[in-house]
Amino acid sequence: MIGVARASDGKIILAPGAESVDAALNRRLAATLSQLGATGKASECHRIATFGNTAAQQVIAVGLGDAPRRNQRFSPDAVRRAAGVATRELAGTRHVAISLPTTDQGIRPTAEGALLGAYTYYRYRNASQADHRAAVETITIVSDDARTPEAKRALTRAQVVAEAVCKVRDLVNTPPSDLHPKEFAQFAAEQADQYNLDIEILDERQLKKGGYGGILGVGQGSINPPRLVRLQYRHPKAKKTIALVGKGITFDSGGLSLKPTASMDWMKSDMGGAAAVIVATTAIAQLKVPINVTAWAPLAENMPSGSAQRPSDVLTIFGGKTVEVLNTDAEGRLVLADALVRASEEQPDYIIDAATLTGAQLVALGTRTSGVMGNDDDLRKAITDAATTAGEQMWPMPLPPELRKSLDSQVADIANIGDSYGGMLVAGIFLQDFIGKRDGEPIPWAHLDIAGPAFNQGNPYGYTPKGGTGAAVATFVQLAEDLASA
Ligand code: BES
Ligand code: MN
Ligand code: ZN
Repeated sequence: MIGVARASDGKIILAPGAESVDAALNRRLAATLSQLGATGKASECHRIATFGNTAAQQVIAVGLGDAPRRNQRFSPDAVRRAAGVATRELAGTRHVAISLPTTDQGIRPTAEGALLGAYTYYRYRNASQADHRAAVETITIVSDDARTPEAKRALTRAQVVAEAVCKVRDLVNTPPSDLHPKEFAQFAAEQADQYNLDIEILDERQLKKGGYGGILGVGQGSINPPRLVRLQYRHPKAKKTIALVGKGITFDSGGLSLKPTASMDWMKSDMGGAAAVIVATTAIAQLKVPINVTAWAPLAENMPSGSAQRPSDVLTIFGGKTVEVLNTDAEGRLVLADALVRASEEQPDYIIDAATLTGAQLVALGTRTSGVMGNDDDLRKAITDAATTAGEQMWPMPLPPELRKSLDSQVADIANIGDSYGGMLVAGIFLQDFIGKRDGEPIPWAHLDIAGPAFNQGNPYGYTPKGGTGAAVATFVQLAEDLASA
C-alpha cells in the first residue's frame, strides 16, 4: 500500500514511501493511477495488479488529500486515515505491507490507522460466515526508521491503544441481551485480573445500602439489576490522580418515557462511555504511565415495566441531593450523579466523564465531533489538544450558568430535564451540580458528550467501521500521558 496526493496544479503525485514500488513498475505508477481516475483526494482508493513485478500481487494506492506545502509534512491524521482505509478495504487479504510518509509523529499514525482499520465484528455470524471478509491478519510497516527505538516504542503504544479501541468497539457491538450490568461488571473484573488492577463492584444490595439512588432508580424497571464498578490503577511515581467516570446504560429504551421505535437499536451503544473509561484504564496500566487513574462505571439497564421509575418520582443521589425525574429517558445524568459524587469523595486532581448523554450533541456538533464541557478551561483545553494528537474530533463547548434555573424543580433540589435549547449544555450543567470540592474549590472537571461519535450509523470511513467506534479511548490514553508529563 502506498499513498498518493493532489499537487497544487491538481495533478496526482506519489507520496514519500512509494519510490521503490514505482521503480519496480517502470515509474508508471502515477500515470497509471491517473488514468484509472485517481486524483489523490483523501480516502480515495485504487488497486493495480503488479503482474509479478513486485513481491506483492497488487498495489493499493490511497489518497492523502492535498500535498503539503514545501518543507511541510503530511498531517498525522491524513496518514492515520489513509492507513485505515487500506486495511479496511483489504479485508479478506492476509498480509498488507504499508509504505506511507512518516509524519512529525513518526510511524505512529501509520501503525494506529492500520491496526484500527483492520477490525471486523463477526461473533454472531453463523450461516453468513462465508460471506464475511476477515480482517487483515499481518501488517508490515515499511520505513527507514523501522529499527529506531522511537519506532519500536511507537509500535508498542499503537498496538496497546488499538487493542483498547477495538475492545470498546466489541463491547458496544455486543447485543444488550448478552451485556447486562452484571456481565459488563464481569468483563471489568476480568480486565482487573489480567492487568493486576484493584476492582470493587457494588451489586444492587450494596447500592441500596450505600444510598445510590440514581443508579437504583434507573435500574429498577429492569430484571437485570444495576452495578457500580470502581477500577483502580496506581503508579508508584504518580504525582496526579485522575477519576474517569463513564455512563454505562447497557440498553436505553427510555424507560416509561419510551423512545420511538426508529433507531432504538442505536441505544445498545449507551454504555460507550463506561467501556471507554474501563478499557482506557487498562491501556494506561499496560503503558505504565506514571499517573493514578480510577475508573468509575455506573451500570444499569433502562427499561419500562411495572417496577420502573415514573416521571415525577424523586430520587436521592449518593450524598443526599434529591432529583425529580421528569423524564425517565434523561437517565444517564442520574447514574452519573451517583458516580460523580462518589468519585469526588476521593478528592482526585481531575474528574473527567464520558457519556453518550444527549441527542442534542448530534444537533450541535454532528455525528463525529464530541462536545467537551467543564468547570476548568485548562483541563478542557488539555482534552481537546489530546484528542487532536490522538486523531479524535472533540470541540470545546460552554456551560452557561443561566441554564441552571431551567433545571429548578417544584419539589426537589433539581429536576433531570430543563431547557431543550442547548440540551447538551443543560445536561452538562446538571452534572456540574454533583462535582465535589477540594480545598474549598470545585474539583477540576470535564464532561465529554460522545453520543454521536461512540457509534457510527453511517458508512465506514478512514479507520472507523460501522457500529461501535471506540470513541474517547485514544484521547484518554493521550491525556494521561500529557498530564503525567506536565
Ligand atoms: N442515550 C440517550 C442520548 C443519545 C441519543 C445517545 C442519540 C446517542 C444517540 C440519552 O439517554 C437520552 O435519551 N437523552 C435524551 C435527554 C432528554 C430527554 C432531555 C435526549 O437527548 O433526547
Ligand atoms: Mn435516555
Ligand atoms: Zn441514555
